[in-house]
Amino acid sequence: VITDAAITRKVVVQALASIAISSCRGNSESSELMEEVAILKGSNCRAKGAAPGFKVAVLGASGGIGQPLSLLMKMNPLVSVLHLYDVVNTPGVTADISHMNTGAVVRGFLGQPQLESALTGMDLVIIPAGIPRKPGMTRDDLFNINAGIVRTLCEGIAKCCPNAIVNVISNPVNSTVPIAAEVFKKAGTYDPKRLLGVTTLDVVRANTFVGEVLGLDPRDVNVPVVGGHAGVTILPLLSQVNPPCSFTSEEISYLTSRIQNGGTEVVEAKAGAGSATLSMAYAAAKFADACLRGLRGDAGIVECSYIASQVTELPFFASKVRLGRSGVEEVLPLGPLNEFERAGLEKAKGELAESIHKGVAFANK
Ligand SMILES: NC(=O)c1ccc[n+]([C@@H]2O[C@H](COP(=O)([O-])OP(=O)(O)OC[C@H]3O[C@@H](n4cnc5c(N)ncnc54)[C@H](O)[C@@H]3O)[C@@H](O)[C@H]2O)c1
Repeated sequence: VITDAAITRKVVVQALASIAISSCRGNSESSELMEEVAILKGSNCRAKGAAPGFKVAVLGASGGIGQPLSLLMKMNPLVSVLHLYDVVNTPGVTADISHMNTGAVVRGFLGQPQLESALTGMDLVIIPAGIPRKPGMTRDDLFNINAGIVRTLCEGIAKCCPNAIVNVISNPVNSTVPIAAEVFKKAGTYDPKRLLGVTTLDVVRANTFVGEVLGLDPRDVNVPVVGGHAGVTILPLLSQVNPPCSFTSEEISYLTSRIQNGGTEVVEAKAGAGSATLSMAYAAAKFADACLRGLRGDAGIVECSYIASQVTELPFFASKVRLGRSGVEEVLPLGPLNEFERAGLEKAKGELAESIHKGVAFANK
């Protein structure tokens, strides 16, 4: 006779089996349940394991960006295993997302002691960990806290998945990418092709705003955005918009300013409740998908990203890159710039040089 209590227990045990939250080890009751899970998996469970695909970790998975990004990565058919790491709330986020009936197996990891388990075996690591801006703050104001967070996470990557592609979202990206590079250099694992700063949101915004001005579907618009990811370092190349088009000088100054200040527009509208999270999660998921398609060997994948570069005299610069099996396979040239863009480039380079220096100095302190 199967009692209600037995059914309830079986449901709980099955749920735990499918969630596989590694963070619930520790007390005897949960380890007892885990043992039962193992028995169930061995006998009754019909699951065949994960579908083939890539293993992806999100570090900072419980945050404003991390949660919707984790949801979108769970929906990506190229992902077979999804590891969610944060210093808070991952058991809940993991339980929630794991109920989505998509292919990826989801596992949660909570706190520094579980960082190494979260990272081991990953093909792609996405980092949205760190504090966001409040009104009146620049991205550089986040440096003191986020620099340390990115350094610690990258030390874990160097140790546990040195061959993973790394997507850095944490701001200030202009400095956190150089910090990550220095950490990997110290560990002897640095490969500039595999370290990419995520600037996709600037392109997403540029495509949207230009689409509005031209009366086009934003999905049909492609605006290269180069330089970096803060204020004047965000340099939309409006002379290279696809489909080819022309703008009045008022349109150019409106669009340039709106694209450069898109993040601040959201920070002010949220009035203290954070910065862009939903559009950022969308942009990060789009960029991660491009990286995974590159890893799979798809041809012709070109995205803008902030990477180690020889396009200018600066060691890091955002521009169009071709993605492939080894990450960044080619950094594309800037192409012809008009006078307005050349002046913008000079301004961008001044600020970028300082941000890069600050990141390198922090990592070598
Ligand atoms: N690249 C971009 O275009 C872009 C756009 C928007 C925001 N951002 C940046 O992304 C970052 C995250 O923004 P958010 O709105 O999600 O912030 P949030 O505060 O909502 O979330 C950040 C998460 O990071 C976690 N965290 C803190 N320290 C950690 C650590 N040591 N290890 C793992 N996780 C840790 C927090 O617990 C939190 O869950 C910020 O630095 C923000 O400036 C970048």
